[in-house]
Amino acid sequence: MTDLLSRSLAAVWHPCTQMKQHEATPLIPIARGEGPWLYDADGKRYLDAVSSWWVNLFGHCNTYINLRLREQLEKLEHVMLAGFTHEPVVALSEKLSALTSGALGHAFYASDGASATEIALKMSLHYWRNQGRSEKNRFVCLEGSYHGETVGALAVTDIALFRDAYAPLVRAADTVPSPDWRRAQDGETAADVARNAAAALEAWLQANHTQTAAFIVEPLVQCATGMAMYDAEYLRLARALCDRYEVHLIADEIAVGCGRTGSFFACEQAGIWPDFLCLSKGISGGYLPLSLVLSRDAIYQAFYADEVSRGFLHSHSYTGNPLACTAALATLELFDQEQVLARNRERAGWLTEAALPMTTHRKVRNVRQTGMILAFDVDAPAGFSRCFAQAALDEGLLLRPIGSTIYWMPPYILDHATTQLLSTNTLVALDTALEKFC
Ligand SMILES: Cc1ncc(COP(=O)(O)O)c(C=O)c1O
Repeated sequence: MTDLLSRSLAAVWHPCTQMKQHEATPLIPIARGEGPWLYDADGKRYLDAVSSWWVNLFGHCNTYINLRLREQLEKLEHVMLAGFTHEPVVALSEKLSALTSGALGHAFYASDGASATEIALKMSLHYWRNQGRSEKNRFVCLEGSYHGETVGALAVTDIALFRDAYAPLVRAADTVPSPDWRRAQDGETAADVARNAAAALEAWLQANHTQTAAFIVEPLVQCATGMAMYDAEYLRLARALCDRYEVHLIADEIAVGCGRTGSFFACEQAGIWPDFLCLSKGISGGYLPLSLVLSRDAIYQAFYADEVSRGFLHSHSYTGNPLACTAALATLELFDQEQVLARNRERAGWLTEAALPMTTHRKVRNVRQTGMILAFDVDAPAGFSRCFAQAALDEGLLLRPIGSTIYWMPPYILDHATTQLLSTNTLVALDTALEKFC
């Protein structure tokens, strides 16, 4: 095991990591996964309470997804999607279109979330160019937004730590206030915060709409900035404003789609459809890299022409990979077979119950929940998160706080007893970290 760790440190550049920190904090070599559990090389198990960066929906090594992948593996592993097509990509696109009742009937594929963001931004800008309105080439996003870390996606990612070093490469979008309900002043409701933020968006659009292609938003929960949650009223108002000012609405459901917030798409809770909807992470059940952008027919038609240059010529080698699409189809089949959205209502209730001890903890504020995401803030100095993450691992929990925000985002398979264990061990880790650190 020590050998594997030193080989990894020598040969693998790990993501989102200051590698020097591994002098003090060892890597964990994972040998296998089963259900919500990850097992290290010594057989110690960890509850994957963050679904391995929010991707895993039905547990590790899910029997059904494994089976469907094995069947597909014997038929076709990959074929380029330009000039060719195949059953899994067609079936998946039809299924996703049906899930939006046909509102978003055209699926464009890529591999990672950030690529989906890039595609939506490029499609929006190119749409306006095809309409003879190439001056509409700016974007606007929310304060604290996160839409990925490739250069185009960083333009609409408002997190200094991820963006500042690359400023000369990035054409940063403007930001408008977040509807995060923690901004409520005395007596204000979450809906009031949403309306105030929408008023700020309106003022911005009024001044800038003629040069603006799209507004991009993470519906209901801004996850990467620290699980900032907000009222669906904001999305309703944003939709109306985007219509009024002729600006596209891009819904980045990469983290919040696929049932995470309680409905299959978060936008459904506002009763709206965006012009572009980005999906990734959970769509393949956490098995294979897959992302996609769903768009409206009016968008698609603006690219449909005799001139090649009016087409959307973007591509990635693995676009629409049959194995990844099969994992996604199997994931959607599980949603139907196991009535996941209905059963998640009960699971979300267990999370609420499990968080009760946090609501009275002296160092905890803002316990909040949207569907299968539960988060709370801890009064603790900077640096607390690493200390807590280590204490959680000692308690057999994979939790990665964002700053001083601890959150649970488990796969949709936790039973009541495991949810209780999550609660008990989170509390132990919290108190251990506070004692050591504060
Ligand atoms: C809302 C949102 N958009 C985009 C991304 C980027 O996805 P990926 O890491 O697959 O590039 C993420 C990743 O966390 C995300 O949360």
